[in-house]
Amino acid sequence: MKPRIKTYIVGLDEQMSGGVPKGSVVLISGMPGTMKSSVAYNILFHNAKNDKIKGLYMSLEQGRDSIIEHMEGLGLKHNEVEDRVNLVDIGYLRLNMTDDLADQQSWMKIFKMYAENLHVSAEYEILVVDSLPVLELLAEVEGRRTELFHFFGWLRELDVTTFIIAEAASDVNVVHDEDFLADGIIRLKKERQGIDITRQIVIDKMRSTKHNTGYFTLMHDDDKGFEVTRVIGD
Ligand SMILES: Nc1ncnc2c1ncn2[C@@H]1O[C@H](COP(=O)(O)OP(=O)(O)OP(=O)(O)O)[C@@H](O)[C@H]1O
Ligand SMILES: [Mg+2]
Repeated sequence: MKPRIKTYIVGLDEQMSGGVPKGSVVLISGMPGTMKSSVAYNILFHNAKNDKIKGLYMSLEQGRDSIIEHMEGLGLKHNEVEDRVNLVDIGYLRLNMTDDLADQQSWMKIFKMYAENLHVSAEYEILVVDSLPVLELLAEVEGRRTELFHFFGWLRELDVTTFIIAEAASDVNVVHDEDFLADGIIRLKKERQGIDITRQIVIDKMRSTKHNTGYFTLMHDDDKGFEVTRVIGD
């Protein structure tokens, strides 16, 4: 069986044959505030801590300090893994760029340069891109799907396991180009249960993997971290 990268969400890895196949490009999709960034960082954090696997978190939107603060609030203290997890914020590089084509292409070049250089110097095995919509500013050149196809191909050649955060605009089941191109999709959503809102997680797709396709309730506990239980009545 293919070697796997664990999500370290308690209860979820065994629902997908032990984790995500190494080398995959996986989308973590969901509406705002569904804990996409937290789930992605959680993967880097625990792989670094438990398995000594190095990671790179490329933030294109949220500032580095803000991410570190948020993760510490979840009990994931960045200083425990900072020798193995690189947290790079390149969002600020965009501030002086316009939306015209030349700028968009140079932005993509900068992104790739960072990812490639750090791959050589830091030898990361897991890459998080937070998030895809920002990269898409470049997409109009040959059309979105072609552009994304090349981008996903470039990621596969990097020979790392990639988690790309994809922002869903609404919960309606709209299928995007990236959904076809990705090897896996882990979707996060909020669901109303009586007067409460619960978080749910579902594995929509995971190539080369026998996986559960049902909904799980996603919980976070400061000591235990992320944990799932099967949605009752599902
Ligand atoms: N200590 C905590 N314990 C549990 N949940 C928390 C804690 N701190 C924040 N949250 C929740 O985490 C959510 C934000 O998580 P995160 O930033 O990972 O989400 P996101 O999906 O990446 O959001 P965005 O769409 O803004 O990028 C907050 O909306 C809040 O509900
Ligand atoms: Mg986020």
